[in-house]
Amino acid sequence: MTKLAGTALEQHLKALLEVPSFPPPQSFVDNALWSDPAVYAEAEADPDGWWERHARALHWDTAWDTVLDWSDKPFAKWFVGGKINASYNCVDRHVEAGNGDRVAFHWRGEEGEERTITYAWLHEQVQRAANAMTSLGVGAGDVVGIYLPMIPEVVVAMLACARIGAPHNVVFGGFSVEAVRERMEESDAKLLVTVDGARRRGKTVPVKREVDHTLGTLPAMDHVLVVRHTDVPCPMVSGRDVDWDTALAAADPVAPATPFDAEHPLFILYSSGSTAKPKGILHTTGGYLVGTAFTTKYVFDLRPESDVFWCSADVGWITGHSYIVYGPLLNGATSVMYEGAPDYPHRGIWWETIERYGVNIFYTAPTAIRACMSWGAEEPNKFDLSSLRLLGSVGEPINPKAWLWYREVIGGGNCPIVDTWWQTETGQIMISPIPGLTAAKPGCAMRALPGVRAEVVDNDGNPISEGQGLLVLRRPWPGMLRTIFKDPDRMIRTYWERFGVDTYLVGDAARIDADGDMWILGRIDDVINVSGHRLSTAEVESAIVGHPKVAESAVVAQDDDITGQAIVAFVTPVEGTDTERLDQEIRDHVAEQIGKFARPKRIIWTADLPKTRSGKIMRRLLRDIAAGRELGDVTTLRDPAVMGALRELIAARADSED
Ligand code: PRX
Repeated sequence: MTKLAGTALEQHLKALLEVPSFPPPQSFVDNALWSDPAVYAEAEADPDGWWERHARALHWDTAWDTVLDWSDKPFAKWFVGGKINASYNCVDRHVEAGNGDRVAFHWRGEEGEERTITYAWLHEQVQRAANAMTSLGVGAGDVVGIYLPMIPEVVVAMLACARIGAPHNVVFGGFSVEAVRERMEESDAKLLVTVDGARRRGKTVPVKREVDHTLGTLPAMDHVLVVRHTDVPCPMVSGRDVDWDTALAAADPVAPATPFDAEHPLFILYSSGSTAKPKGILHTTGGYLVGTAFTTKYVFDLRPESDVFWCSADVGWITGHSYIVYGPLLNGATSVMYEGAPDYPHRGIWWETIERYGVNIFYTAPTAIRACMSWGAEEPNKFDLSSLRLLGSVGEPINPKAWLWYREVIGGGNCPIVDTWWQTETGQIMISPIPGLTAAKPGCAMRALPGVRAEVVDNDGNPISEGQGLLVLRRPWPGMLRTIFKDPDRMIRTYWERFGVDTYLVGDAARIDADGDMWILGRIDDVINVSGHRLSTAEVESAIVGHPKVAESAVVAQDDDITGQAIVAFVTPVEGTDTERLDQEIRDHVAEQIGKFARPKRIIWTADLPKTRSGKIMRRLLRDIAAGRELGDVTTLRDPAVMGALRELIAARADSED
């Protein structure tokens, strides 16, 4: 396709909006790993046998006796009796097969620096880091916190934990140190691996200094291991802090990969739910590895010998865990790892990176696609993107226009797109087209993968064959969460109570069309999705209310062209407070408590909030106000006088937007 931009591109996309579905190009089908729909029937006929077959792609020190033990529902056990080491499967196996020189990561820093990370290098570093952690007193079952930017050491730290059976608890670098402290305390982390400083758009954030400021003394935390990445001053606390390079240099380069039980915890990852308290989603070893290895290979049609794969997520989210670290490494793949933002040092940096490393498979989020779209096709058009053969999307619903722009401008009109639906809890991709098999509809996640059973049900749990309802998963899958750390009751209440212990309630609404294809519509609970970052309204409210000048607050989501959803906060200040600079103060406060990405986009002052007679905030009304819609049913409102004030707010909003 000739490279279009401006009006010509707009017209081209408009015409394509009429096309109902896009079959994979024949050239792709001819070479695809899977192009026979029989895989669906095969998996459906014997799901346990299906997963068992795919589990054999990994190295097990001891084979399992039972594929799935589902007797203590909803707490599943997979590959019972099997023993396996995650880091051995990600690294040693490839080195032993003679692929030590293969590149695991082409790393690129913000200022254009490059590091070539081979499997052999990882092998040595992971073993040294494992020994360094052991000598700091970390043993199997001890939680290790990781708060690092997108540098190769984050992978080394995660795999070193896996090697010694210490579950990692990675906190996304965009979270504030206050959020790190909360997660370390909550998980009783014994060690924190962090960094002197992190770079963001040409600036250096003094991470270690901030960590020291907030961490205080945590009863369980014995040591902090510090990676040097920048030249920012880095205070070290004597007796507690240890320099990463020094510790690794002093460590024995050989650390045996101890086989662990398939159900040994691999990691905890905190994620937002309906309450202010984040949930520690616990994943274990065997099943998670099977689920991520399998989906990386078949959803992305991955050829480790020849493909260059790039998942642009941050390692601190589940997408990074599964599709930067475990899935690609288990397959022996070569990936790109990029430290920076998509618009630094320039708005074409992603496309320059694809050209530079010859990326074949690119996996990103709709919010990034929409941002790039708003910067114009001229940026990607400057680069040769012809190496691309497959594109992926994850994290939020993708609107058809962004899907088509992605397909045409980035994929040159001939790359299949896999819109992959899954969650922190599912650990692995669950609903997605299979690229050589499924004709993709723009904005549609299509079908559950072979071996997975997803359904759309009504409020009573009855399957709907066509129409809108709740998305559920009907049987266990290997990568599923095993529990919520320290809170198994919450695991049951959140996911398995509404429709019983055989049915996992996803928390998303979905539509199933006449062809049986699934369109994910968004959350049904108070979870919001800003740029693919998952947040709970209660979490943001709790941060806002923590500000001394705030009496009450309610947070809702509003649709946003770039970020998908944006945060709108209704705030009642303490009586007599001057609101002059209060909105900035509140934003800063939220950044401190959670992270910059959680700052409200809009703050609306209100003397009162609409509540039901039982005192529940009527978010529906607030959402209507934020969106400038006519207010719906208000008959259950406790104080009808609030309505007058709300109507004034709407009027004021309309005026300010004129
Ligand atoms: O609402 C769905 C949305 O993201 C939620 C899961 O968020 P998180 O656990 O942070 O994991 C994100 C990355 C896997 C889901 O409940 N979501 C994820 N992928 C899609 C999606 N919504 C629509 N389409 C998708 N492809």
